Amino acid sequence: MTAATLAHYIGGERVTAPALAPSLNPSDVSDVVALVPDGGAAEVDAAVAAARKAFPSWSEASPEVRSDLLDKVGSTIFARREELGRLLSREEGKTLPEGISEVARAGRIFKYFAGEALRRHGQNLDSVRPGVEVQTYRQAVGVFALIAPWNFPIAIPAWKSAPALAFGNTVVIKPAGPTPAIAAALAGIVHEAGAPAGVFNMIFGRGGMGDALVRHPDVDGISFTGSQAVGALVAAAAVARQARVQLEMGGKNPLVILDDADLERAVVVALDGAYFATGQRCTASSRLIVQAGIHDRFVAALAAKVAALRVGHALDPATQLGPAVNEEQMEQSYRYIGIARAEGGRVVTGGERLQLAQRGWYVQPALIADTEQSMRINREEVFGPIASTLRVRNYEEALEAANAGEFGLSAGIVTQSLKYARHFQRAVRAGMVMVNLPTAGVDYHVPFGGSRKSSYGAREQGFAAVEFYTQTKTAYSWS
Ligand code: UN1
Repeated sequence: MTAATLAHYIGGERVTAPALAPSLNPSDVSDVVALVPDGGAAEVDAAVAAARKAFPSWSEASPEVRSDLLDKVGSTIFARREELGRLLSREEGKTLPEGISEVARAGRIFKYFAGEALRRHGQNLDSVRPGVEVQTYRQAVGVFALIAPWNFPIAIPAWKSAPALAFGNTVVIKPAGPTPAIAAALAGIVHEAGAPAGVFNMIFGRGGMGDALVRHPDVDGISFTGSQAVGALVAAAAVARQARVQLEMGGKNPLVILDDADLERAVVVALDGAYFATGQRCTASSRLIVQAGIHDRFVAALAAKVAALRVGHALDPATQLGPAVNEEQMEQSYRYIGIARAEGGRVVTGGERLQLAQRGWYVQPALIADTEQSMRINREEVFGPIASTLRVRNYEEALEAANAGEFGLSAGIVTQSLKYARHFQRAVRAGMVMVNLPTAGVDYHVPFGGSRKSSYGAREQGFAAVEFYTQTKTAYSWS
């Protein structure tokens, strides 16, 4: 397979750069997916200036202009989902069906926001003063910096850029280091769909460039998805100059399995939630909190399924679990298996290193039983195909365990009891809650986000996105 030579996309032009680093296929590191430029402050300046220049006419254009662009982008992505899904899987390592469905989701996100572009509505109220009328409008904010992670390398750029553009803003996107090619494909589609120059910009670079982007005085808002540590720095930089900021960070998402759960359903939900997409989802069900009466049967049944997962090349149709995205992530998984063992966890299955025909960043999925909430394996995000189980006596203990720790992104419960399901929905400290469903795998037309250290700022996605990507003006009039 050939390696694409990528370029920055600034002011409607491909901007080539000399320093090109290779982006490798994590399923087979002899395959170079792309050569990526390494931008810095100069590219940030140029991209932000282009976005600023494009802002007045884009924000004042008819909503139909914005809607049509998003519709075209969405339809193109959707129509090309097989080919783009293949590129995504080759570059990120999720299986081909996972890659294709992520691309389809990105297409649908653009189509959804094509509709939302027409619904930037305000309100009309009677003033408390007779004869006075009050109106509220939503207006575009300006230039947004969008910092995306590698685990959903087209869906997340889509769910940040589509609402930004729909409501009249312009954007500068910084894709994640490991997944530049699929992001560049998105920029190409936006360009071909006829986006005016400067409305959508994309620049590639490592740490220093991200820092220059979040500190740039002409960036009005930042949407970031990534680690908690980097998120805190991004927020501090934004607040220092009163830019808007929205952060989506880690999770250590609990999935509670009660004694009355349908065992088969519980296993399906846990397997999907914890292991699919190689566990590289901030919404992954990484803490399995299991009631004593079902515990042993559940652990045995899940372990059998985990052990049977076929780990392999992302593009091999027989593969059920692709590799980690890079060596660092693979090593992180193995390191946490060691930590869990040292803390007293019992590795029921997995955890040994995998040797496949081709060299890639493979992790044998692991299930670790007999853990306690105080252990690091239950407090820190691993971001790999690893889940741990905690044994609890009753629902109250399960809820307490679910609510422990610093994160609060997503939480789930598997039960046939309406009473416990309803109570859990209200009482769990998380931004999203699932009943008899995995904690990961969300819809695109409803709000997404967490509580505590998982998220900060306004919610992303669906009908909630308008809050972050517009500002409200209140108009009073008397006549
Ligand atoms: C999902 O679970 O469908 O980085 C989406 C992540 C999240 C997205 C999860 N921001 O994993």
